Amino acid sequence: MQPVLHYLKQHQDRFVAELGDYLRFASVSAQPQHKPDLLACAQWLVKHCQHLGLDASLRPTAGHPIVVAKTKRAKNSGKPHYLVYGHYDVQPPEPLELWTTPPFEPRIAGRNLFARGSTDNKGQNFAHLKAVEAYLKTGTPLPCDLTFVLEGEEEVGSKSLSGFLKQHRAELACDAIVVSDTGMPAPNCPALTYALRGIIAFEITLRGPARDLHSGIFGGAVENPAMALSQLLAKVRDEKGRIKIPGFYDGVAPLSKYEREQIKRYPLSDMKLKKLLGATKLFGEKGFTATEQRSSRPTFEINGLTSGYQGEGSKTIVPAWARAKITCRLVPNQKPAHVRKIVCAWLKQNCPPTVRLEITAGHGAEAYLVSPTSRPAQAALRALEKAFGTKPILMREGGSIPIVNEFKKVLGADTLLLGIGLPDDNAHSPDEKFNLDCFAGGQRMSAFLWQELAG
Ligand code: BES
Ligand code: ZN
Repeated sequence: MQPVLHYLKQHQDRFVAELGDYLRFASVSAQPQHKPDLLACAQWLVKHCQHLGLDASLRPTAGHPIVVAKTKRAKNSGKPHYLVYGHYDVQPPEPLELWTTPPFEPRIAGRNLFARGSTDNKGQNFAHLKAVEAYLKTGTPLPCDLTFVLEGEEEVGSKSLSGFLKQHRAELACDAIVVSDTGMPAPNCPALTYALRGIIAFEITLRGPARDLHSGIFGGAVENPAMALSQLLAKVRDEKGRIKIPGFYDGVAPLSKYEREQIKRYPLSDMKLKKLLGATKLFGEKGFTATEQRSSRPTFEINGLTSGYQGEGSKTIVPAWARAKITCRLVPNQKPAHVRKIVCAWLKQNCPPTVRLEITAGHGAEAYLVSPTSRPAQAALRALEKAFGTKPILMREGGSIPIVNEFKKVLGADTLLLGIGLPDDNAHSPDEKFNLDCFAGGQRMSAFLWQELAG
């Protein structure tokens, strides 16, 4: 391992510069105008992987292309085979005015690299590529066969990759999948994540009058859809955040004592969390700590709320419609289809007759839960400890990576979630950043991992 570790140490500056090149692509999957940027980013990745000595190709899909890059291998090498999954697409950077410097012009300040996609997920998947580079360029034999699968639709539900897995089942058959697309509590506190929340997404639109109306001439005699939507959504939860839709908590298992003990080890106090989030006060369901709430409890969230006049100054209208973008986070044992059904039924039942309700379904995925005591998980824990010099913690994460369920269903393989993002990395927020110590630690973790998994 010495030559590999030495190589990593020697080349950090270049790695950071290359990550900067990767971050310059505005690969925003949600926005159609960025389609060419996603393609250019994928092509850059293919070239980069080829340059490292991987067999890399661009796989077109109905959506954004998938990059597949493999270590060169003998036909029946007898080595274990692992997939490394990551995504090169990023969340929309808006609102742009809240960024200190433009989102696609990477900037280093101290030990942080700022850019959209830096922690979620380009920096994290690039760490794995650099670890493999270190093996290949130092002539150190890799004890495993590796296949990188880097997709461009994670932030919009991984539609194409899901089909791709089914079409390429044999090619992608593997012992396990390794994913760094989650977090760790602090640069000196590595973590193995053994659970993710699931998700359902949908949009609801309430339509009232046929067009925006003068609110003086007609207001009071006709429903205001923005008001109706506010009242409808306000009924969804109580003041503590418990969702009042009957059946919403069906199947939700209580946290075991063991898990609560594990969660308590998460080194971010409520005080620190409050400060980090800039909130006046924390909020949440009675009987659960903040860490429990955001990792292990289901939610109903408004992600966006639109109606009426949004421009400067005042405009006295009754808007014709109001819309909300909603996602619910789900926990193990909640069935996405069931939750979607009861939520839609409840909305229909509670919508006043003065407006028309339209519901558009979006993506959905089950929560993920995997044993932290399996042999691969134990190997991952050893790799984390060697890389970061301290014992890792076990944690559940609140975010979702829908494709890990498909990995299990289609490939029959478990996913090791080895995130190297920090809570203050501003994923999905303005001024997203990636910690360069986490970047270097992630590279070491990946380097050790292949030894530990094969050993
Ligand atoms: N990297 C995140 C998922 C994540 C973040 C998991 C932090 C755990 C901790 C991923 O890129 C993401 O944002 N996923 C979406 C999925 C959705 C669009 C289907 C999410 O969680 O909102
Ligand atoms: Zn994300």
